[in-house]
Amino acid sequence: MNISAKTKFCIIIGNPVDHSLSPLMHNAAYKELGIDHKFVFLGTNTEVKDVKKITDAMRVMKNFRGLTCTIPHKIEIVKYLDEIDEVAKKIGAVNTVVNSNGILKGYNTDWVGAITPIEKITSLKNKRIAIIGAGGAARAIGYGVLFKDAKLTIFNRTGEKAFQLGNDLGCPSQKLYEVKDLRDFDIIINATSVGMKPQENIFPFPENFIQKNHIVFDIVYSPYETLLLKTAKKIGAKIIHGLDMLLHQGSAQFELYTNQKAPIKVMEQALLYSFQINNT
Ligand code: ATR
Repeated sequence: MNISAKTKFCIIIGNPVDHSLSPLMHNAAYKELGIDHKFVFLGTNTEVKDVKKITDAMRVMKNFRGLTCTIPHKIEIVKYLDEIDEVAKKIGAVNTVVNSNGILKGYNTDWVGAITPIEKITSLKNKRIAIIGAGGAARAIGYGVLFKDAKLTIFNRTGEKAFQLGNDLGCPSQKLYEVKDLRDFDIIINATSVGMKPQENIFPFPENFIQKNHIVFDIVYSPYETLLLKTAKKIGAKIIHGLDMLLHQGSAQFELYTNQKAPIKVMEQALLYSFQINNT
């Protein structure tokens, strides 16, 4: 056991957070780089009403290096920080807080997490993207694809939320159930919670919208391969797993916390191993 009074700690907060894979991914990376005496990553369930108290604690606990925020804290945290990175400000949500001697700065790494796996397959410039969903995840991904000069349309079950997000991002939007097909799009991104328990047996949009020439990206990472991705794969479409987004938002975050290059392969293997998938 290498942990000492000098060890810096990072914590993921959210509700619920018990099943978060962030501690596993970050601790595997610390071990790989031999810095597991310098850093440790933990997690704790937290109520929204207590988020301010956590930022107060960070200011007085100088070894409290990083705070990872997940649902439902990404918006609430913004008002308690000293500085907010420009991109996070535009997105309006923070998933990463870095503590530098009591000064708290917020970042958003979700958008990088989403665009990195897409750009491994194709350039985003001028690609026609359909995002399904209008919550926090859709907002960060929408920002990311527009930043990369893609052409975005937002579709959502609740029309009002689609229009609001379309308005904020400056792109077209439509109520999901008015859509007849998605043949005019290159990339379809599911940014809803459909596909995750207890909605693991339903589709976020009609199954017959998927075509062979689509790239289908599901942000849901548990199960590892959702019904949507399994179906898209059968049809012959290219697929991107939600775990890739988790990995890349996590590696960007790792670099902000440690100022070291993230050992992505090791982080990926730790995540895949937790789903008992071996890609070595
Ligand atoms: P997050 O911050 O993770 O994006 P959220 O803000 O709760 O989470 O957003 C969840 C998204 O999933 C919403 O776009 C929601 O649609 P509504 O705005 O209509 O609620 C979408 N969603 C959840 N369950 C859905 C379902 N069964 N069918 C279609 N969309 C669904």
